Amino acid sequence: MDEPLVVNDGGNLHTQIWHYPSRTECLTCHTIPAAGGLALGFNTPQLNRDFDYGGVIDNQLRAFSNASYFSAPVTNLNSLRALAPSTNEAASVECRVRSYLTANCSGCHVPSGPGLSTFDVRIITPLSATRLINGSLTNTTGNPLNRVIVPGSLTNSMLLTRISTLGAGRMPPTGSTELDAGAISLVSRWITNDLPSYHCFAEWQLLLFGETNSPLAMAAADPDTDGANNQLEWLTGTSPLLVNDVSPGLSVGLAGSSVLFTYPRVANRGFDLQSTTDFAGNTWQSLDVIENRPFFSASNTVVTVPDLMTNAAVKFYRLRVYEP
Ligand code: HEC
Ligand code: HEC
Repeated sequence: MDEPLVVNDGGNLHTQIWHYPSRTECLTCHTIPAAGGLALGFNTPQLNRDFDYGGVIDNQLRAFSNASYFSAPVTNLNSLRALAPSTNEAASVECRVRSYLTANCSGCHVPSGPGLSTFDVRIITPLSATRLINGSLTNTTGNPLNRVIVPGSLTNSMLLTRISTLGAGRMPPTGSTELDAGAISLVSRWITNDLPSYHCFAEWQLLLFGETNSPLAMAAADPDTDGANNQLEWLTGTSPLLVNDVSPGLSVGLAGSSVLFTYPRVANRGFDLQSTTDFAGNTWQSLDVIENRPFFSASNTVVTVPDLMTNAAVKFYRLRVYEP
């Protein structure tokens, strides 16, 4: 059934058609058993946010866990991924774009999904593995320069074209008769402002070493012997050829009964402080404090993460860096 509704958009009245889907239509979107048992938004990153329960604000996952909705209580809340609202300027544009794509497109655009495409928009897939940037298309619409996303080109980025057009080829293909102006401007901002300076690891290898397969260019190599391998230098934006250009690591302090770890958090990179008392056993665990939650910052900042002292004789720490 279609019902016309008059929408008051800040004083502007306009009529919008609300479409009530049929059961068959429900299943054109709630399609993929493997991706989430036919559910779409009922997943960890989507639910991992605060909610106002009539005066009491609590994290939804914690509230569900406290109410015994899960088969086992949630004990690792601080290490779970969360989507960033598209308007949260504190989060990187890339992280917000990826949040939008996972919420709106991952019902279809996942490996072996019904999207007939090769890209994977799930938030758990690191950007390098999504095949979004310069990813090839099944349907180039006649222009061989078109790709899923082309850094710096609004016209050749078909993902943008598809969300900016109503009618044939429009994405998402069903369920909406309105363009999402916020999403269009966010994706455009990512393509125009951020992506021209983006290099995937292979492009970075070419720029710095002239080839991708020289031993010096390998991800694990450390040609400037500064202790940071190429993978880490690529992630933190430092030079793999200058010994004194290295991201400053952890500095350690004490405050009361806590050890404080301070590190520079590079914009648009995730940081995860982990510890173990058994170095050889490889039993690293993320520090379970709110300061250590996965977050991709819009700008470079400095972060301090506290760890309560215990009577362990020795404790090891490491910082893991990862891309959105
Ligand atoms: C156009 C695609 C589309 C259609 C058609 C559709 N849904 Fe959904 N549905 C979604 C998306 C996308 C979400 C997740 C939204 C979010 O997380 O913000 C969702 C969420 C839900 C949820 C919350 C749990 C979950 O899976 O995240 C329920 C329940 C649901 N839909 C039921 C239905 C029913 C019943 C119908 C048919 C009457 C229907 N949907 C039709 C796309 C669709
Ligand atoms: C209900 C399933 C569904 C949803 C949800 C969906 N798509 Fe699609 N998408 C398709 C199908 C089917 C095609 C192939 C047909 C076509 O090209 O129109 C496609 C094609 C595309 C293509 C062209 C791929 C190629 O290789 O040529 C792009 C880009 C795209 N979608 C982007 C998106 C974006 C961005 C979203 C979310 C805003 C989205 N889609 C949501 C089903 C979906």
